[in-house]
Formats: sequence, C-alpha cells, structure tokens
Amino acid sequence: MYDVNAVRRIFPHTRKTIYFNVASTGPLADPAYRLQDVHFHKSQMADVGDQSEIFAALENIRRNGAKIFGCKKSEAGFGFNTTFGINLAAFGLPLKKGDEVLLSDVEFPANVYPWLELRRRGMKVKFVKSVGGFFNIEKLQKAITKRTKVLSISYVQYFNGFKIDIETIAEICRKHKIYLVLDVIQAAGCEKINFKKWNVAVASAGAHKWLLSPQGTGLFYVSEDIRERLLAPWRSWLSVDWKCRWHDLRRFDMPYENSARQFELGTYPSPLVMALDWTLKFFTELGIGNIQKHNHALLDILIEYLNSEPFYRITSSLVKKHRSSMLSFTTDRGDIGKVHQLLARKKIVTGLREGSIRVSVHLYNNRQEIKHLISVLDEAAEKLKGK
Ligand SMILES: Cc1ncc(COP(=O)(O)O)c(C=O)c1O
Repeated sequence: MYDVNAVRRIFPHTRKTIYFNVASTGPLADPAYRLQDVHFHKSQMADVGDQSEIFAALENIRRNGAKIFGCKKSEAGFGFNTTFGINLAAFGLPLKKGDEVLLSDVEFPANVYPWLELRRRGMKVKFVKSVGGFFNIEKLQKAITKRTKVLSISYVQYFNGFKIDIETIAEICRKHKIYLVLDVIQAAGCEKINFKKWNVAVASAGAHKWLLSPQGTGLFYVSEDIRERLLAPWRSWLSVDWKCRWHDLRRFDMPYENSARQFELGTYPSPLVMALDWTLKFFTELGIGNIQKHNHALLDILIEYLNSEPFYRITSSLVKKHRSSMLSFTTDRGDIGKVHQLLARKKIVTGLREGSIRVSVHLYNNRQEIKHLISVLDEAAEKLKGK
C-alpha cells in the first residue's frame, strides 16, 4: 500500500474541503499544477524552444498510459477528452449502411451523440435496455442480430458506479465478431484495465477525472489488430514523426506513425501535457491495484453505515464484480436533494445524479473523512425522518 498522509500533503484541496466528487472533476496535485504554471510562463516569455521536451513527455504519456490501459505503448495515444476516442471509433470503424451499433440506455451522452450521427449515414443505433439502472447481459444477447457490428459502452457507469461484467461481454463480442468500444473515463486511474485481454477495439478516457489531470487531456487506445482497418476520420501533420526537425517541413511523402500516434491531432496543449506526464508517472508508481484496494475499503465503511440506516437506500450494485470507486444512494422517506445541500454546507462535496447522491472516493481520501460524512448523513436522516 502507499502512504495516504504523504499523498494528502501534495493535494492542497484536502486542507479545505472533503472532496467526494472526482467522478465529476479531479483535483490537481501540487506538482501537476506547478508544471502547468512553469510552461504557461515559458509561453509568456517566448521560451518554447524546439518542443523536444513536450515530445519526450508525450512518449512517457503513451508508455504510462499503456500501463494503465493494459496494452502496448504503440496502442495508446494522447487525446483531449473521452469524446476524441469515441469519435475516432464512430467515424473510423469500417461500417456499412444497415450495420447496427448497440449502446446502453443508461449511457453518458458523450458515448451516445457521436454514434447517433451515424443514423444519417444509414447505420442503425439501438439501445440495450437496462434493468434497475444496470447494464443487462441477457438484454444485450437479445438485441444482437447478424447486422450488429459495434457495442460501445462505459466500463463504469457514471451515475451509480456499476462496473460491467467485462469478461462475459468481451466473450459475447468475440463470438459475434462485434467491435467492442469502451468509455473508461470513470475507471482509468482507479480500476484495473486490460484491453488486450478483453479484445477491445477502441477505448477512450478524459484524464480530468480519476487521472487527476487538467481538463483538455485524455488518452485513447486503438488495438493494433484494427489499426490498419480503421478509416481515420482525420489526419494531422503530426501523424508522422518529424523528430523535432522543424526546418524541413515540405515533405509530403512521410509514412504515418506505425502506432496509435497516427490518430493524434495537431499541435499539443504543452502545459497540460507536462502536467499529464507527471500525473501518469505518479499513478504508475502508486499502482492502480493499490488505489483500487484503498478506494473500495473506504466505501466498505460507508456501505456498512447505509445498510444499517433505514432512511437510506443504496442504488449501486453491491455485487463484488460490479463495484467500483463510487457508491450511490437515495432515500424513499424524504428529499435526497436536501441531504446533498446539508453535505455541501458542511464542506463535503458529493455529486447528485439521477436522483441519488454519488460518493466518489479516491487516493487522497481517508477514513476520518468517511466517518465525518457518515456523521453528517446521520444528522440529515434524524432531521428529515419526521418530515
Ligand atoms: C461516462 C462518461 N463519459 C464521458 C464523460 C465526459 O466526456 P468528455 O471527456 O468527452 O467531456 C463523462 C463525464 O463527464 C462520463 O461520466
């Protein structure tokens, strides 16, 4: 395990607030914040050099991104957010008129709107019905036809933290020759991921949540098995490697990089890239397995309390394989919005999504914070019970 107190020292927000809302936006660690500052200052002072520092950082990002994704370095690339990789899949996978794309009816809209555009191009988009807010494998199997070519789904659901049964779903996709596309923004940085084992075609994650990096940074994955078949919806002058030799640019015969890098897009947001580079190193040093263990253990304490207090009802799945680093709960005996407001007044930040409070815990949270949360939840239950 790692030293939570040492980790907390580099996250200044922990001195001011109890933050359980990383599923919305992740706070920056001191070094990541300062690196951006340094590089914005360099821009201000016209001190940008030949950018070799940025390109070296991008290489680290692809290497450490691949560790987090469970894939080869050549399959990981820098994207700006989740939408980037989802669009790459939606407009790059070789689909024909009449082909079907399956989505979940409880999906975050970032993984819906790009696919809906395909309807105008003659493809069908169908929604697999959820059961109790959870993705359902039987319904998936019923929805598959001979024309089904893609399943695009979040590995971890945004409002209740439901982690899909990826092994079974991967097997179904393999059997029916369906491209599996994953949105992993709610998993990258807190759950173990293994794209190679799951035979994932394309995946994507913004790094601004669980990877605690600036907005405008993200990672995507393209399996080497489909790289050649992907009909790139865009190309960039940086799809080829100039080796930072910027004096000789009128060369139009260079081969695309033989890696996911060929799908990256133009000039990079350098200060943000430097911060992402630091953060990915930090995550690979701590170890995703350790972070996952830490987060789940904190939520165990909260689950024990919520199960003992009849005022609350947990809306997340408690089945081990479906658990993640977030937990949602509501009440049938009062207004959950009022509980959320009381927490906010006590400087405890949680999310309110689809009628439930969502608590997302991460590597900087500790047991005292969970205990404090429980004491305020208890106070709210006592206050609102009679009403
Ligand atoms: C599951 C999921 N996908 C995508 C996003 C965001 O997409 P993007 O990174 O493109 O803004 C969110 C949250 O904001 C999300 O919860």
